Formats: sequence, C-alpha cells, structure tokens
Amino acid sequence: MKHFASVVLFGAAVVALVSAAGTEGEISFEYHRYEELRKALVSVWLQCPTISRIYTIGESFEGRELLVLEMTDNPGTHEPGEPEFKYIANMHGNEAVGRELLIYLAQYLCNQYQQGNETIIDLVHNTRIHFMPSMNPDGFEKAASQPGDIKDWFVGRSNAQGVDLNRNFPDLDRIIYLNEREGGANNHLLQNMKKAVDENTKLAPETKAVIHWIMDIPFVLSANLHGGDVVANYPYDETRTGSTHEYSSSPDDVTFKSLARAYSMYNPIMSDPNRPPCRKNDDDSSFKDGITNGGAWYSVPGGMQDFNYLSSNSFEITLELSCDKFPNEDTLKTYWEQNRNSLVNYIEQVHRGVKGFVRDLQGNPISNASISVEGIDHDITTAKDGDYWRLLAPGNYKVGASAPGYLTVIKKVAIPYSPAARVDFELESLIERKEEEREELMDWWKMMSETLNF
Ligand SMILES: *[C@@H]1O[C@H](CO)[C@@H](O)[C@H](O)[C@H]1NC(C)=O
Ligand SMILES: *[C@@H]1O[C@H](CO)[C@@H](O)[C@H](O)[C@H]1NC(C)=O
Ligand SMILES: [Zn+2]
Repeated sequence: MKHFASVVLFGAAVVALVSAAGTEGEISFEYHRYEELRKALVSVWLQCPTISRIYTIGESFEGRELLVLEMTDNPGTHEPGEPEFKYIANMHGNEAVGRELLIYLAQYLCNQYQQGNETIIDLVHNTRIHFMPSMNPDGFEKAASQPGDIKDWFVGRSNAQGVDLNRNFPDLDRIIYLNEREGGANNHLLQNMKKAVDENTKLAPETKAVIHWIMDIPFVLSANLHGGDVVANYPYDETRTGSTHEYSSSPDDVTFKSLARAYSMYNPIMSDPNRPPCRKNDDDSSFKDGITNGGAWYSVPGGMQDFNYLSSNSFEITLELSCDKFPNEDTLKTYWEQNRNSLVNYIEQVHRGVKGFVRDLQGNPISNASISVEGIDHDITTAKDGDYWRLLAPGNYKVGASAPGYLTVIKKVAIPYSPAARVDFELESLIERKEEEREELMDWWKMMSETLNF
C-alpha cells in the first residue's frame, strides 16, 4: 500500500502491476475458497521459487486436487540426513482455521526467509517441510457455501461420500494392543500391505492418498490441524479397553507430552489454565497445560494421528485451534497471532532426539534398519540412505541399531532438549564375521601345523 501515492502518477496499467506486487510480503487474513487457495500457494511459489514447490498427492472424491506446498532448500528431493515434516489441515472440511493458518504460515516463512530472518533460514535449510492446507477440499466448499456468517456445526465435516476422514484410517491401535499382549511388531504395522490398502473399498480417496504419502516419504514429525476446541492432543487416541474415556499412553508418552507442550506453551489461549471451556457442557477435565492424551479426552478409532505413529516413523499430534470451527473472517488475524510462534516452534521439534546414519563397514547405507531404544517398545527404521531420526525427550538412553544379517550395535547417548544428538552406527555383516572367523581358524591351523611340523 505504501507505493500507492507514487503509482497514481503513472496511470492504470502501473497501478495494477504495483498493487499486485504490493500484496507480496503481506499476509491478507481472509478465507480462501478452492481456487483462491491454489492461487495463494502459487503466489508463495512465485515469490520464493528457490525454496518452494507445489505438488499434489491425489484428488478428492469430487476431483479437487489435494495440494501440498513444500518448503526447503532443495525442493523435490529427500536430502540424506535432512528430516521431513508435515502439517495437514481441514480434514474435517468445516474446520477452517487450520486451513487458513497454513496458508499464512507459508507466506510468513517465505517473507521472513527473504528478509533474512536467521531462525527461518536455518529452519528452511535444514528441514523439508510439507503443508497440506486442505485434506477435505470438498467438505470445505460445502461448509463455505452456507449463506451467512453462522455455519452449521456438522455441514462439510465429512468428505463428499459422507465419510469422516478422521475415522477412516486402518485401525492399527487394535493390532498394537493385541501385539502388546501376545507379542508382535511394534512399528510399521502396515508393512508390505500397500496392495491391501489400494483394494480396500472402505477407504475414501482422500484417505488412500494420504496413506500413500505417509508411506512414501520418511516423515519424522507431523500435526493434524482441527477446530472445535483448543488443545494439543497426543497419542493414543483410541482406548485399550474400548471405553469412551481412558488415558491411553503410547510407548513414547514422555516424548509426546513434550512435543504437545512445545505447541501449547507458545499459544497464550491454549496454555491458559483459566481458559473457560469452549461450551458450557464441554468435558475438558483431561486438559492440563493445554495438552491432553487423546483417549483420556475421548476415544477415536481409525484416526490419522495414531495411524502415523503405528504405520510409519512419523510422530503426530492433533491440534484443536479454535472453539468455533468456522469463525468470522475478521477473527482470522487473531488466530494467526495466537498460533504463529507455536506453528514455527513445533516444526523445530523435528530437530530433537537422536539422529544419524546406519552403514555397513564399507560405508554403504543400510536402509530399513531398526533403531531401538531400551525401555521404549517402539522402534523406528532408517530411510533409503541409512539416515534416521529418533525423537526423544531429554535424558540418557541406550540406542541400538540392527538389521537382518548384521551384528547389533548398542550405544549410550545423552540427549539434550535440542538440537538432536548425532550418533552413527557401523554394522558388521554376519557373513563378514563368519569369513573373519574362518580365516582366523585357518591361520591358527596353519601355524599349528607348521609348529608341529606335519
Ligand atoms: C524471526 O522468526 C522468528 C520465528 O518466527 C520470530 O520469532 C522472530 O521474531 C523473527 N525475527 C524478526 C527480526 O522478525
Ligand atoms: C523392512 O524390514 C522388515 C523387518 O526386518 C521387513 O519385514 C520388511 O519387509 C522390510 N521392508 C522393506 C521395504 O524392505
Ligand atoms: Zn476435527
């Protein structure tokens, strides 16, 4: 806007040009319908082409694209050693605040990067960040099409087939609870089942697309943005006994609490101990410091949060950002101000715990090796280049790396709050070990024969 006075002198064509440029570097706090959302992402890309890329992971039931904006120093590729992060919003189409916040966040990061903000430059250079402002674009259009400012509590929540996407993921909690009792895998429970996913007719197209995305990219940390309450919710969401309310800790309970806190503590409304409940009859009794265990609040089977943790390496929490699901447009700036530092700080959590590479003695990467932590019954695995990231709260741990055909290596690691400790593993192959032993035996035999002279 500040260019306006000088522009008037040069006539209409220049006005159009400069006023388009004038919005660059500024965030306009308004709702974005489907076409506007696309345009907003494209304008971030045009403004910051070297650190961003737009891609789509598939289509909604009605054929709208599931758009993703990626921000990082080398968009389009996984860089060995660089952790990947994702935010997904608006999976309930009528929960609109997160959708807008992700657009503003992308604009903010691009602006701050260009203005030389060191914190943001470091973050963008050392992280591959993915934003999906809407996982349910059909639902959003339905919700947004209602006339007037007051939106119905449910219209647009489901996808266009009437499927609640946050109840539509394969229910891996039931499997992990069984495995806890009877033994079995403690991670990647959908291993080698891609075909079954594709053939499952109960899965909505949006769910399938996101499942593939989760399986294909080595995400380390993520969050799922919702509305209707104000709290950071962490796994498990589904209770062990099937009861409606029951604290349902995952093996990473301590780490998850710390991650959820890293969001809530920077949001003055979420962390306010005296915040009144959103509605008079809301049961917020499980909320403390702006966080809650999912099952303790209410049980959610088939949710995306637990699915991430049980099917991939990604630790995910669910963020409830506003009492109103579809608030008045003039409140969006306030929501941005309440959440900006939390949104940035939460991405930074991807640089905690322990990280490094697993290789063989010749320096070749070992992918799909297991990283285990003594006392925590949840392993993670190495990515294609042997790189791994194991989120952990501060403390002293014994961390092991193992892979079929190799000798397991265990190391003691002291983990600070941040940044992540760097620990690499070199694994000796069992075949090599056998070779070595055979050679040693041969040498010994030769020596003995020579000594005994036969
Ligand atoms: C740089 O970005 C961080 C993170 O969002 C923010 O806290 C800080 O105020 C920014 N610095 C400047 C000079 O704007
Ligand atoms: C990864 O390792 C697990 C366990 O060793 C195995 O079941 C699985 O098939 C492997 N996955 C791939 C993609 O190689
Ligand atoms: Zn929701």
